[in-house]
Amino acid sequence: MALTPSLLWSAFPGLALQCSNFTPPILPDAQVLSITSHPVYNLTLPLAIPGLPTNLPPLTFCNVTVTLTHGTANDTVFVTVALPPRERWNGRYQATGGGGLAAGYDHSLVVPVLSGFAASFTDGGLTLNHTIDPQSGEWGMNNDGTLNRDLMLNLAWRSIHDMALASKHVIHEFYGKPANYSYWNGCSQGGRQGYAAAAKYPTDFDGILAMAPGLSMEYIGPADFWPVVVMANEGQLVPPCVFDAFQRAIVETCDPLDGAVDELLSDYDLLLSCHFDPQTLVGTKVGCEDTETMITATQARIVGKILDGPRTPEGNKLWYGLAPGATFSGIAGTRSINKALVPVPFVPALGWLKYMVLRDANYDFTKMSYAEYFEAFNTSVTIGASFLGADPLNISAFHSAGGKLLSWVGLADEYIPPSSLLNYHDQIATSLGSYSATHEFYRVFTAPGVGHCQGGNGPQPLNAMTALVDWVEHGRAPETLPAGTNSANGKVISRDLCLYPKKPVYLEGRADEEGSFACEEAPTELEPSVDRCAMIIMM
Ligand SMILES: *[C@@H]1O[C@H](CO)[C@@H](O)[C@H](O)[C@H]1NC(C)=O
Ligand SMILES: *[C@@H]1O[C@H](CO)[C@@H](O)[C@H](O)[C@H]1NC(C)=O
Ligand SMILES: *[C@@H]1O[C@H](CO)[C@@H](O)[C@H](O)[C@H]1NC(C)=O
Ligand SMILES: *[C@@H]1O[C@H](CO)[C@@H](O)[C@H](O)[C@H]1NC(C)=O
Ligand SMILES: *[C@@H]1O[C@H](CO)[C@@H](O)[C@H](O)[C@H]1NC(C)=O
Ligand SMILES: *[C@@H]1O[C@H](CO)[C@@H](O)[C@H](O)[C@H]1NC(C)=O
Ligand SMILES: *[C@@H]1O[C@H](CO)[C@@H](O)[C@H](O)[C@H]1NC(C)=O
Repeated sequence: MALTPSLLWSAFPGLALQCSNFTPPILPDAQVLSITSHPVYNLTLPLAIPGLPTNLPPLTFCNVTVTLTHGTANDTVFVTVALPPRERWNGRYQATGGGGLAAGYDHSLVVPVLSGFAASFTDGGLTLNHTIDPQSGEWGMNNDGTLNRDLMLNLAWRSIHDMALASKHVIHEFYGKPANYSYWNGCSQGGRQGYAAAAKYPTDFDGILAMAPGLSMEYIGPADFWPVVVMANEGQLVPPCVFDAFQRAIVETCDPLDGAVDELLSDYDLLLSCHFDPQTLVGTKVGCEDTETMITATQARIVGKILDGPRTPEGNKLWYGLAPGATFSGIAGTRSINKALVPVPFVPALGWLKYMVLRDANYDFTKMSYAEYFEAFNTSVTIGASFLGADPLNISAFHSAGGKLLSWVGLADEYIPPSSLLNYHDQIATSLGSYSATHEFYRVFTAPGVGHCQGGNGPQPLNAMTALVDWVEHGRAPETLPAGTNSANGKVISRDLCLYPKKPVYLEGRADEEGSFACEEAPTELEPSVDRCAMIIMM
């Protein structure tokens, strides 16, 4: 939703009165421990919240907190609902999701509330009554070393429904009528929660915006730890400058295949077209801070394994490899401390491994063998299946209920290979028999060069929520998704993103300008599902 900087809210005399005396919601599976509320006036935000525009106007809203628990579970779950004054409400509800190992964040409420939505988030109980950062994963393990099944269940789905029901109740009381429409908005873990909502609670939301979803997080958790294990077992840590050199070489190799040399890999089907042999870089000199280093055969082998993804010694591929063109810094981070390299694992991946899978807070991950890794991968899949389900999420009831599901994914996503979402889409299309039947209610857009939820060198999707609202409320299904803004390398690029499985084709003109690319006609026949967003790696 566009923000209007002139929207400096003046005093709302009725707010204090309206923002009091809520009755507790009745929830089927949970008991409400308390409900508290107070008005918040002219809240100015801390300057830098990642992913948010700067210079936001001050916020005024009614801040409601519902605290609940589940039967015999020892959980304390907070649901926070932010209600704009009646005069500013757009009649809609927007639930927001989390990221990594967190179920939700307070800062996710800012943009929706400024846009006039009543908005909510929940911690799902994962902050352990506001005592830990859920990203650590510590919530996954009880004091006796067992898995915290209640909190796993909360994250998997339960907290989504609790939040939706509690928020709708609060909205109805505050405004005197229910919201006309309900939406979900989340990326990564928040994207997965959106798909989970569609599958498990098909009538909770009319529209679901679920970006870069972490579908199958029981695979993503260990897969995002693969590079750490590869480096430990190949006996070498690769410095960031060497990884960057490989990333540049991959972009140089695959970029021209879409017809435009613009540093963006626009095609998701590189497996069919792009060959990259990491060994070709062996012996290349790379400038690293104040020194120069020569790329070794071991480093090339490590890069090959990261691009290939986790694979057992028997050759079973367990998950997708790093998306071509994505930065290695997300899951293969290393850092120099006093001239010695140390691994910098992706925090949620390490947390998942330590607390949910191995349940050993003191686990020394730097010594993990391949054998231990594959065993842990197996345990992770088993644990995940018992909470998330072993089969792909079935969203057909959401379809029947008239819901709309909109997703986009960055093709340079450094944490969740886009292949997983595109293959999920293909499975849905196969079960429905055609792309057109699928696109009646489910659409995925691909964003060339864009990283995980944001970042990268590609144009960032703009106003996806506006597109979803238009689809839900006016039946105008998005054919393209506008993208633009300054990318990380400083270029201003505008493009209309293509509806998967359409691919962008370069027409003519400056590749950074709108209209230089068009979306090709979609194939009419269903295409066999392959590992999209991969390339042929020679090792
Ligand atoms: C909030 O800001 C507006 C505009 O500056 C002002 O009129 C109003 O008095 C402020 N409200 C409170 C409670 O400070
Ligand atoms: C909203 O209320 C909760 C619970 O009282 C509190 O923790 C939170 O800081 C409040 N938020 C704001 C922005 O005042
Ligand atoms: C919500 O419905 C009411 C009528 O019940 C209507 O006046 C209002 O404009 C609607 N709001 C939106 C955002 O559609
Ligand atoms: C209940 O959870 C709290 C953390 O919220 C923890 O401190 C306490 O030990 C737990 N009690 C039991 C019986 O597990
Ligand atoms: C949660 O923490 C508050 C204090 O911050 C405390 O009063 C309350 O008893 C705690 N709840 C549980 C279940 O431990
Ligand atoms: C996981 O364990 C099961 C049963 O112990 C076994 O059948 C399967 O092959 C294992 N998978 C992997 C990837 O190790
Ligand atoms: C999904 O669920 C529907 C019922 O809601 C069922 O008819 C359909 O067969 C299921 N699809 C798959 C692939 O299991």
